[in-house]
Parts: sequence; structure tokens; C-alpha cells
Amino acid sequence: MSSELSDSAVSPPTGAGESTSGPSRRTVIATGAAVGGVMVAGGTFLAGAEEAAATVAAPSSRVSLTVNGTRRTVTVDNRTSLLDLLREHLELTGSKKGCNAGACGACTVLVDGQRVNSCLTLAVRLEGAEVTTIEGLAKGDKLHPLQQAFVDEDAFQCGYCTPGQIMSGVGCIQEGHTNSPEEIREYMSGNVCRCGCYVKIVRAVEQTAARK
Ligand code: FES
Ligand code: FES
Repeated sequence: MSSELSDSAVSPPTGAGESTSGPSRRTVIATGAAVGGVMVAGGTFLAGAEEAAATVAAPSSRVSLTVNGTRRTVTVDNRTSLLDLLREHLELTGSKKGCNAGACGACTVLVDGQRVNSCLTLAVRLEGAEVTTIEGLAKGDKLHPLQQAFVDEDAFQCGYCTPGQIMSGVGCIQEGHTNSPEEIREYMSGNVCRCGCYVKIVRAVEQTAARK
């Protein structure tokens, strides 16, 4: 292609019928090449701009919070969710990312004792907060009573929803919304189980609440 553009390879516009006042073949080719060059150059420029934009640091903040009893200070992109802070920055992968949109409850953790969907919670808003995740429930080798109840009741199949179910169940019990299976179902309704273990999950929460 480059040889087509060289002076030696392109014949002068001597063909019959070619207007001497209009653009010559050489001009058209040269113009096309120039435009192409601009486009290529433009494309290169745009790519460079995109790269430059990508390398501009996104706004970030330092946040200090207590996670499962340990003070942690991290610098995160301001858009980071609590779920990503836990999983990507602190390597606490017990909290699961199901929908990442607040619809499944797999990411449920406790923040200052309240259950939240960590996928919808901005990490930078949690300065000074106390966060409890599934990793923080057991005392050494001794499972939290609700964890033990899930085992005893066989309240899971694949287990993907289970950390969120248990954290939500802990919150539900603390809130006192355990006066009947119907009430437990109502207050656990934000936690979806695709394996359909609801009867056993409700039973585990009910029994743990009754033992308190
Ligand atoms: S992952 Fe947070 S609600 Fe589904
Ligand atoms: S145990 Fe599989 S999604 Fe709940």
C-alpha cells in the first residue's frame, strides 16, 4: 500500500477525459492518504487520550473501620462498595457477591449491629464503623449458635447464600423479629436461596432465637 503512495509509483494525471482543473488521481490518493493518516493519527490520539484518562487516578479516600474486632485502615476508590472492600482489599471472601444490586442478600453483613447489603454500601461512608462479617461470628473453634443451627438443621445445599442468610438471621434475632415462622420469613425475605432451603433456614433461626 505504501508503494501506491510513492511518487514513483503513481503516474501523473495524463489520461484522456481527466479534467485538469479537478482533483487529480494523485491528489485524490494523496488526500485520501492524508485523511487516512489523520484518521489513524486521530485514532492514535484518541487511544492515547483514553489511556491517559484511565491512568488519571480516580478520587480515593482513606477510611478506618473495625472489621470483626480488628481496626483496619485502607485507601480505596471512592466508588468502592463495602463488599469489594471486604473481598478485594481485606481478603474476607465469606460475604458473597450474588446480584451486586441489593436484590439477593448474599452480601449481608452487620454494620454497627444493623444488617446491610454490603454491595450497596459505600466503604468511604463507614469511617469509624464496626463491621461484622461471617468470618467474625465464631469464637475460635466454637461456631455461633446460628451457624451451629444451620449445620444441625442442614439448612443449605450449595451454600452460596448461607453467609448472608446467617448474618441476616443474626440481625433478625437481635431485632426480635422471630415471634413466628411467618415473621421470620417476612424479615428474612431479602435473602434469597436458589436452592429453596427456606423451611430449614427459618427453623434454624427460630430455634436459635428460642435458645437465647
Ligand atoms: S450481592 Fe448484595 S444483595 Fe445481592
Ligand atoms: S443453599 Fe444454595 S442458594 Fe441457598
